[in-house]
Amino acid sequence: MSKTLKLNGDEVEIVAGESVLELARRMGQEIPSLCHDPRLKAVGACRTCLVEVEGVRRLVPSCATKAEEGIAVTTANARIERHQKALFALYMTDNVDASETDDSSDPSELHALAERVKAPTTWPRMQHKRFQRADDRNPYIEYRADRCILCARCTRYCEEVESVSAITLAGRGAETTIATADARSLLDTTCELCGGCVDVCPTGAMTEKKPLALKLLPARKLEKVRTTCNYCGVGCQMDLNVDRTANNGRGVVAKITSPDAGVLPNDGNLCVKGRFAYQFIDHKDRLTKPLVRNQEGLLEETSWDNALQIAAEGLKKVAKRHGPDSLGFVSSSRCTGEENYLVQKLSRAVFGTHNVHQCAAT
Ligand code: SF4
Ligand code: SF4
Ligand code: FES
Repeated sequence: MSKTLKLNGDEVEIVAGESVLELARRMGQEIPSLCHDPRLKAVGACRTCLVEVEGVRRLVPSCATKAEEGIAVTTANARIERHQKALFALYMTDNVDASETDDSSDPSELHALAERVKAPTTWPRMQHKRFQRADDRNPYIEYRADRCILCARCTRYCEEVESVSAITLAGRGAETTIATADARSLLDTTCELCGGCVDVCPTGAMTEKKPLALKLLPARKLEKVRTTCNYCGVGCQMDLNVDRTANNGRGVVAKITSPDAGVLPNDGNLCVKGRFAYQFIDHKDRLTKPLVRNQEGLLEETSWDNALQIAAEGLKKVAKRHGPDSLGFVSSSRCTGEENYLVQKLSRAVFGTHNVHQCAAT
């Protein structure tokens, strides 16, 4: 028989193993959260998701409370609202203005939630005492201690998803910070520069250096365009963040972010190539037209028909002179499955060699 609990007075069924937060969201209830991530173990660190459970004196973190049979949960009332306003106001005293975040079209989760719960913004800003790692020469990731609320989403992601533990909570009390071993650059740690810590950070404390360096601040409006990464054959889903106004209206990819956890096949995770290696899109050396060498050996522009004709003749000449196994065909995971299929057909059926490979070996 299915188990039930009471949610805001309604009897609802429990899915085995879910938390009160997961159940409430499944039922369409809005509960704020900052330290919660469905890929990570619940720690109940930020206290933004507190709810009332009948018979329990204090508010409890819904992310770290199991949905148990027979309990009665309230997710919204005057007491919870008071708590949310005060908590978010406190977090905001410890954080920068929303206008200082990297992307005006995509405020951090903290800023968006503070606005949603109507937290007072008139409280004086506090001077933070957190230790900031100086001059980390890694090219991609910046830690801004003045924005951190110590929710530990970044460190838990690094440990539980990436299995790398390159960053950790260090120090005590008001001086607690996110550190690497001996305050080294991420380049001198086990960090794989996956950028997951940037992606999960709800405040913009872990942020990307590149958009900052490009001065994509703060008035840029970035539009998310979902696409499939073409670096390997996994097919990870990613969002290009495009500034449509740049590049004489042709647009420019300002950064890449991952979709929410749960979007397959990558569940919101990306590797260093997918997340950070996108400069090729507008690189000046990128080939956009077919080129062939002229009599002097210099590359010059030509038509696709002519380029393919010259390539076919060259391949046939080599096969005739040295045999089919003197040829090798290397395809790319940037091609589609159909294109890769055709390359192996060309290799095996047309030239008669099994010397064919593709970098993702799919
Ligand atoms: S980039 Fe990835 S591996 Fe490096 S610290 Fe962040 S989460 Fe860990
Ligand atoms: S850097 Fe971001 S994710 Fe990490 S503890 Fe601070 S606020 Fe949380
Ligand atoms: S989301 Fe529940 S305590 Fe942070």
